[in-house]
Amino acid sequence: MTTVYLNGDFIPANQAKISPMDRGFLFGDGIYEVIPSYNGRCVGFTPHLERMQNGLALLSIDAKLTAKNWQQITDKLIADNRAELGDNLGIYLHVSRGTDTKRGHAFPANITPTIFAFAFAIPAQPIADKAKTTGFHVVTGQDLRWQRCNIKSTSLLGNVLHYQQGADQGGQEILLFDEQGNLTEGASVNVFIIKDGVIATPPLSNKILPGITRQILLAILAKHTDIEIQQREISQAEVLAADEIWLTSSSKEVAPVLTVNNQPVGSGQVDDLWLVAQQLFSAHKFDY
Ligand code: PDD
Repeated sequence: MTTVYLNGDFIPANQAKISPMDRGFLFGDGIYEVIPSYNGRCVGFTPHLERMQNGLALLSIDAKLTAKNWQQITDKLIADNRAELGDNLGIYLHVSRGTDTKRGHAFPANITPTIFAFAFAIPAQPIADKAKTTGFHVVTGQDLRWQRCNIKSTSLLGNVLHYQQGADQGGQEILLFDEQGNLTEGASVNVFIIKDGVIATPPLSNKILPGITRQILLAILAKHTDIEIQQREISQAEVLAADEIWLTSSSKEVAPVLTVNNQPVGSGQVDDLWLVAQQLFSAHKFDY
């Protein structure tokens, strides 16, 4: 039985219970975070925590936990669950506004946030090896989510519906485009395109999640290569004409896309710049 954290206690997963009057359940009124760890070491713990604290501040939720408290919760979940779940663990952190006695949209006064965290097994660390990397097949669609996609909200219905829209078309992700036809992100990933040796990714805005893998990859590439990197609007035509497309997320790290709408991306193979990017990411990710 795995151990989870709920409101100050570490308890067996099957004993974790919250009220159905919790605003996380009724309204999706909360913030979450997913942090990868390998052999007990987290990737990007500090930036993940900063993003969560920013999100909580935007929602006026005060979880009353310091960075040190969150570190202790994370470390204990890894220590307590490693024997059962293995050495590759995702840590899920979740704060909802809390449980009320009635259902009303306004923030209740004096409500105590519900804090929940658990560990789950994730795939082994991605390997920078062209032969061992299978690559993704994706489709495209119009981004129909809300205008605050920069908040890592537990209200993920828009993302869930888009992910399923992609899956229903045989895709392993869906690349989303805004009303102007510009790339935003995938249902659960950020997106990079490469053309003629130049890397481009959409700029941070309320249209995309500020992905931590995106942030770390940009920092690593800037520090360790001379490759030109552009953060700018990217049209659908550019995506379809790209030499390479990469998806980034905490569990995927840098994942190459092989086809978009059943059409090959560039050579249709896992490509050279991807190899450079994933090699550098693997080498330096624990520095962040
Ligand atoms: N998904 N964009 C969206 C909409 C996401 O949900 C995610 C992450 C990302 C990548 O962010 P990061 O690099 O910080 O993992 C981009 C997580 C893992 C999830 O919901 O499970």
